[in-house]
Amino acid sequence: MQLLNGKVALVTGSGRGLGWGIARALGRSGARVCVSDINDVELARAESDLKADGSEVMALHLDAGDLSAFQDAVDQIVARWGRLDVLVHNAIYMPLIRFEDTSPELYWQQLRVSLGGLFNGCRAVWDVMKAQGGGHIMGIASGSSKKGFKDEVTYCTAKHGQEGFIKALSLEAAPYGIALNTVGPGKIIKPTRITWEEFDALPESEKADWADPVELGKGFVWLAAQPTHRFSGFRFDAGVIADTVAAEGYDFEFSPEKVTLLPDDFRAAQAWYANYPD
Ligand SMILES: NC(=O)c1ccc[n+]([C@@H]2O[C@H](COP(=O)([O-])OP(=O)(O)OC[C@H]3O[C@@H](n4cnc5c(N)ncnc54)[C@H](O)[C@@H]3O)[C@@H](O)[C@H]2O)c1
Repeated sequence: MQLLNGKVALVTGSGRGLGWGIARALGRSGARVCVSDINDVELARAESDLKADGSEVMALHLDAGDLSAFQDAVDQIVARWGRLDVLVHNAIYMPLIRFEDTSPELYWQQLRVSLGGLFNGCRAVWDVMKAQGGGHIMGIASGSSKKGFKDEVTYCTAKHGQEGFIKALSLEAAPYGIALNTVGPGKIIKPTRITWEEFDALPESEKADWADPVELGKGFVWLAAQPTHRFSGFRFDAGVIADTVAAEGYDFEFSPEKVTLLPDDFRAAQAWYANYPD
């Protein structure tokens, strides 16, 4: 019996990078996984990698910024597998660019994928998760959820905004058993935008310091296996959880230090939710 047997997951932007690792880790833990992306070349690779793992997988071309396409994808998943337990909105469009060079079109194009994708994903899975008694929705946190960086005005806007979205919606979602959290990589990974072709061409010495996304995916597996009423509105870090799982197994005794780089923020959020009026 594997941790996520019977569960169904959808990961956006999972053709490569962190999303690919999350999808593989979920599949290896027994979940049926829909990999999705706008890049069909990357998507085909992810599909074949999950198949090689022995996972039950479906691949869908999905632009996370398109609400009707998102709804259509969720309909296809439910038609095939009968449910949807885990949505990970991982897709990102992230040019590094100075504010002065950022056109309004580029600003909204970026937010359309990041914040728009999160809104679309929540809308698309909401009724399904409500009807089945709950589910997990996860966004991807970052250092840019917490701090500012040059050339990242729009990206930092998106990542900070996502935290607010998740915290607020977690309160409205609680009566339906829907948990919303963010999970950062928590370790250095391949820089965003590098394709599989570029990655394969890089010398091993350049990749040596990048964490394995499949290993980080164990952080998402752990969270997906939690009862949905246990944690909602929090920020986790996958690398911290993966290290804890390696040391203590998936059923470790919980403390914030074992799941996030920001344990004080975690405790502050716990206090906020504990005192929030019904
Ligand atoms: N790489 C890092 O250093 C880092 C650090 C912290 C957080 N993150 C976060 O991790 C997540 C994944 O980033 P990554 O570094 O693996 O990026 P990546 O560029 O390797 O992969 C992103 C994937 O999203 C896809 N995509 C782009 N626009 C899309 C859309 N509209 N709809 C669906 N798919 C789309 C791309 O085709 C690509 O396959 C992002 O949320 C990012 O913010 C990355």
